[in-house]
Amino acid sequence: MAAQLPIPVYTSLDQAMPDLQTAAEQAVRYNNLVEEFEKRFGHKPSYIARAPGRVNLIGEHIDYVLFGCFPAAVERDILIACGPSLATASTGTGGVQAHNLNPKYQPQNFVPMLKTGGITAAEEAGAASTVHAKAAWQLDIDKRELRWESYVKAGYYGVLNRFFSAASGTQEHPVPVDLLFTGSVPSGSGLSSSAAMVVASTLAFLTVNNKLEGVSKGQLVEMAMENEKRVGVNSGGLDQAASVICTPHSAIFVNFYPKLSAEPIPLPTPRTIPRAIFVCANSLVVSDKAVTAKFHYNLRVVETLVAARVLGRLLNLPLTPTERPTLRVILTRWLGTPEADLEKEDVKSAIERFLPEIEKLRPAREGREPGEEGVTMKEMIELSGLSEEQFNQVYLSWVEVEAEYFQLYKRTRHVFTEALRVLEFREVCVRAQATEGDLPEETLKQLGALLDASHESCSTLCESSCPEVDELTRLAKAAGAYGSRITGAGWGGCTVSLVAEDRVEEFIAKIKEGYAPYRELSDEKLRDAIFATKPSSGAFVLKLDA
Ligand code: GLA
Repeated sequence: MAAQLPIPVYTSLDQAMPDLQTAAEQAVRYNNLVEEFEKRFGHKPSYIARAPGRVNLIGEHIDYVLFGCFPAAVERDILIACGPSLATASTGTGGVQAHNLNPKYQPQNFVPMLKTGGITAAEEAGAASTVHAKAAWQLDIDKRELRWESYVKAGYYGVLNRFFSAASGTQEHPVPVDLLFTGSVPSGSGLSSSAAMVVASTLAFLTVNNKLEGVSKGQLVEMAMENEKRVGVNSGGLDQAASVICTPHSAIFVNFYPKLSAEPIPLPTPRTIPRAIFVCANSLVVSDKAVTAKFHYNLRVVETLVAARVLGRLLNLPLTPTERPTLRVILTRWLGTPEADLEKEDVKSAIERFLPEIEKLRPAREGREPGEEGVTMKEMIELSGLSEEQFNQVYLSWVEVEAEYFQLYKRTRHVFTEALRVLEFREVCVRAQATEGDLPEETLKQLGALLDASHESCSTLCESSCPEVDELTRLAKAAGAYGSRITGAGWGGCTVSLVAEDRVEEFIAKIKEGYAPYRELSDEKLRDAIFATKPSSGAFVLKLDA
């Protein structure tokens, strides 16, 4: 239901913010952006498009195999002041002038070109999704280099292909656009600055081109997911769903199969014991998933996809040579029940029953050293039952990955146990919501234990953590957190810890003392590195006075 709602368009900040105090605090930032836009482009902006970062509370590296996750939007966000450009001579049809308040990011001008007869943008991006047209828009995203405007172009692609392609049957041209960006989501920190950039950019282009009406939150998520693939990362929909669909005061349980759906779930708020809140702590190890995709993020995507086929074969499930089913689809085939007939409780018990089956993937350990438990490329191809050519076509033609050993068993074990933990986490929250009277502290301890178990699995089975992040979670536990785990893609970035509200200050002080990279930080930098966060609202558009 939440995914079918329209994108909110507000006319004042009071409507957009959860309370008046936040609106007053944010007004300074919004006004400054509007003034600076006018200085740079010589006219007022028409709108501000806003998309938040997110913290994933639990459910890591399972969205791309189509299992549900549990994120919340954070208050940190990307804002884009935008409006039709007056400088048509320099911007041309649909041309863009994109500026950023952060001087680190140089102003960029670009004009989309319509390319006929070649491959489409979706094919180029390696997206397995629908290809829209034979004439495709071209914006030249350089995937080998991380450039800030690539995310802006990625957002633009989807709008161009959907509303201005020959296939959409329109003669209309996109309008030239001026954009001014500002952001408070630290990049490479695991709080999803990239999805916030792509969602906000998609929203800005939709709005200025007058195409927002009729686009639901779910459709914006799907567009943003496809758009982000153009930057070279085959991510799932977790970040985009959180950035678009979240509402203040709640996390969302977001499900991707058989179709995108989201359910807002308030976090338990005990009355007699202090409320627990989430604290994000940045390890300061910068990990940009677009840069390391071939041996980190995209490799996990390929490992889990191949694992699904191999497991399907071992379980004698029907498989065609050209399809690329996910682990979620394999579970459904094994069950033999149409997904639409399954309740969350059924999925949970199905996973529990399925877990012993995944042991079939465990590779023979004889003669292997620790760290070599996986399978080589040659072994993996054999296990898939495909010819080398078929294998390359299905699993490698759209993505570049690099590894000596592919860890099919470990990744699969992570996926199913993590999917189970998400459903348990949801269940504890839902039960707490329905409880009359005071909640026992035990509830928070249960949530904390699930966070800890999730981290352990990310660290040892998914292998998406790093020593600094592991250290931060240990320090968090020692400082009194109910639970602590890595959040986001990993290999650096942030942890998220569940902490009693009245102990947050003491908690932060202890982490500062214990985590060496924090000791030298100024108070301002420290506030940026470790902070408590409330679930915030999802993306919206603020319509400005003409
Ligand atoms: C990144 C991706 C998400 C998700 C997480 C890991 O943030 O963009 O889709 O896969 O990593 O859970």
